[in-house]
Amino acid sequence: MGTLWGGRYTEAPDELLWEFNASLRFDKRLAQVDVRGSIAYAKALGRAGILNEDEVHILLRGLEQIAREFSQGSFAFAPTDEDIHTAVERRLHELIGPVAGKLHTGRSRNDQVATDIRLYLLEVLDELAQSLRAVQSSIIAKAEEHLSVIMPGYTHLQPAQPVRFSHWLLSFFWMFQRDLERLQDLRKRTSLCPLGAGALAGNAYGIDREALARELGFTGVTENSMDAVSDRDMVLETLSWAAILGVHLSRLAEDLILWSSAEFGFVQLAERFTTGSSLMPQKRNPDSMELVRAKAGRLIGNLVQLLTVIKGLPSTYDKDLQEDKEPLFDTLDTLKMTLPITAQVIATLQVNQEAMQNALDEAMLATDLADYLVRKGIPFREAHHLVGQVVLLSEQKGLPLSKLPLEELQRISPAFGPDLYDTLHFEASVEARNVIGGTALSAVKKQLQRARMLLQGK
Ligand code: ARG
Repeated sequence: MGTLWGGRYTEAPDELLWEFNASLRFDKRLAQVDVRGSIAYAKALGRAGILNEDEVHILLRGLEQIAREFSQGSFAFAPTDEDIHTAVERRLHELIGPVAGKLHTGRSRNDQVATDIRLYLLEVLDELAQSLRAVQSSIIAKAEEHLSVIMPGYTHLQPAQPVRFSHWLLSFFWMFQRDLERLQDLRKRTSLCPLGAGALAGNAYGIDREALARELGFTGVTENSMDAVSDRDMVLETLSWAAILGVHLSRLAEDLILWSSAEFGFVQLAERFTTGSSLMPQKRNPDSMELVRAKAGRLIGNLVQLLTVIKGLPSTYDKDLQEDKEPLFDTLDTLKMTLPITAQVIATLQVNQEAMQNALDEAMLATDLADYLVRKGIPFREAHHLVGQVVLLSEQKGLPLSKLPLEELQRISPAFGPDLYDTLHFEASVEARNVIGGTALSAVKKQLQRARMLLQGK
């Protein structure tokens, strides 16, 4: 077999090993960035005086032809193609003859593949950033639509205090905002060009690495050739970013699954984002959100997989690093579907104000009653205890807090006056929390405004 490295070999590779070793099956998708890297590298060799003008021209013609073949889907892979890099090189030989052999002057597949991954990542990360923004924008729109809707807020999944539906939904805006910021941050480190690092020791032909990096759209170059060929932090960072994002998405999905159940009925997923049961005709299952919830599992798994591969690897390139691609591509593909589906589910979500209203129980206003006593000068700990007795009384009598007679409350604390009943309204409760990040209408409106400004990049 015509391998790139066959010079010192007398024996053909074992067939099983060949299959085991080959990465073409999954690194095919790097075809376009691989060719882009080669075009830039051919030019760099020309600028360094290693190739003459004609040679550069011939190489570029051949590479451009290959790029066309890839985009038209006419590129024919050969059984001897070990990976995308060897496939491109083989084809280049077929197209332009021996000049093709000059392209790899001073370049190794080690700096080549590191460059390809980064170029590919930069493209996809930008697409994913857009999809994440679309999720944020659907959150903002839905929150805005339902500013006045009040619902139970939960801790420990027990009814805790009333909140605005919009406030709950916006809580996810901020999770996704942090995800977006993490993405922008890791993008900076991804945007450094390793090309010119060679196999591990650098480039002996004096190429201008900075010009090469600029040509490829990188913002800078890597500083150490040994680090450059062994570094997969950009992949690890992407996988860990995606795992955290996946965890956020799974929590949103879980809330929506729970709340769309018959027992809650707070929201309804649009029919086209649910599926039926093959047995029970009445079912309308939230499969979209169940899968979003489950995808966190593979996103976390992909991170753990690659961390485990890289842990304890000896310096610079080891073939183990070829195992970076499948988890990375799987994670990117997973998010490419998960994010738009999430955005759509939110955009088409029906909010059932009445069900939320009905689920509000006056016990959730107990904290407001304690706050009332605090304003009458009672220390909070004591107020908490006194209101505990009020709650007990309401349970014993089977009466909501607002129906307890004043005299009975005054027996618990003389600080109770007739104005206490003013606090026992859900609207009053959310409005009382008029601080930045609170549930009052004006606070939520300000939150919305800040969110919108961030989304517009201001
Ligand atoms: N297919 C390889 C990878 O993905 C390309 C680099 C191979 N380098 C080498 N020295 N064998 O990592």
